[in-house]
Amino acid sequence: MRILLCGGAGYIGAHAYVVLVERGHEVIVADNFSNSSPGVLGRLQQITGQPVPFQPLDLRDREAVSGFFGRQHFDAVVHFAALKSVGESCERPLDYFHNNIGGTLNLLHGMQQTGVRRLVFSSSATVYGDPASVPVREDARLQVTNPYGRTKLVMEELIGDLCLSDPDFHAVNLRYFNPAGAHASGLIGEDPGGVPNNLMPYICQVAVGRRERLSVFGGDWPTLDGTGVRDYIHVMDLARAHADALDFVARERRNLTVNLGTGHGISVLQLVKAFADAAARDIPYQVVARRPGDVAEVYADPSLAHRMLGWRAELGVEAMCRDAWRWQSLNPQGYPAA
Ligand code: NAD
Ligand code: UFG
Repeated sequence: MRILLCGGAGYIGAHAYVVLVERGHEVIVADNFSNSSPGVLGRLQQITGQPVPFQPLDLRDREAVSGFFGRQHFDAVVHFAALKSVGESCERPLDYFHNNIGGTLNLLHGMQQTGVRRLVFSSSATVYGDPASVPVREDARLQVTNPYGRTKLVMEELIGDLCLSDPDFHAVNLRYFNPAGAHASGLIGEDPGGVPNNLMPYICQVAVGRRERLSVFGGDWPTLDGTGVRDYIHVMDLARAHADALDFVARERRNLTVNLGTGHGISVLQLVKAFADAAARDIPYQVVARRPGDVAEVYADPSLAHRMLGWRAELGVEAMCRDAWRWQSLNPQGYPAA
């Protein structure tokens, strides 16, 4: 298939690019680099041995999106492009609504105009909020606790309505749990701008000496060791699921919403220990107050993804820590300037 990756220069998009090219697809990356670096494109070329077709594009610009679709033919779109910081979304909700929801509407409009009727969408476990029980199944109650989560829920709903209105439009919503790790080459990985919000990139920056110590948010959660429990999923496993989802829409011509996780929760302190073992160095940390909005324990029931896509996670926490560390130690300051 000829596939457009919107937001394909970002962390998950770049890894998906590699898998899709390996599976023989023709893949075009579009991005506005609002949260990524042009340096990723050279690295993708190094991994795949081919130049990376790239289109600068801001999804907020409806005319530009529409013009771009008018000049190109695509068989499918994978839509990663979004702002993703929970804290920032609470400070600037309108920017999140404009970028994530507005950008998605422009994208769907461009697709509809040109008859592109296959979509794979990056959703998130954030749509479950604080789940009543774990593991979380797709039919669990949806409840969002911040504007970022709201955008994911609204986008799932908009896409669902579009599928209802056009029986030939098919979408797969992939609800990612906690992506971590990097491509085994160490050439691409997670490169957050500023202070990392998420646990794994923060640990990586402590390990490489960019930050003094990790703050562990809360030691009094009702979990095995008092720290928060999450379902960390290797980004290469996640990447593979996008290829499987594209095969699914092409083959089954149906819509689907699935969890992508391992089905196993691990605590902050368990992840710190696994990383320290993989990197063979201490990760200094201190336990501080809980982070507002956090929840104790979230992990997936990933069995639907297995049944429908034939997908399951293959890589464990050791591989996630080893690969994240390889990326960070080879690229202590992230991507080079392009
Ligand atoms: P990322 O920020 O690394 O990648 C997103 C990419 O989209 C970036 O390259 C950014 O420049 C681009 N982008 C943003 N707004 C754009 C716009 N208006 N026009 C064009 N490009 C735009 O994030 P990621 O971790 O790769 O996440 C990818 C997707 O997965 C996002 O939709 C995110 O919400 C979702 N997700 C991420 C996580 C996570 O923890 N990483 C968890 C669940 C869901
Ligand atoms: N944590 C720390 N210290 C840090 C960062 C995180 O102790 O510096 C803890 C958190 O309290 C939590 C766990 O590590 O217990 C994971 O936190 P992350 O911020 O890495 O991930 P979250 O589960 O809070 O949220 C992330 C995304 C959400 C998304 C969710 C599920 O930020 O947008 O994964 O996909 F919804």
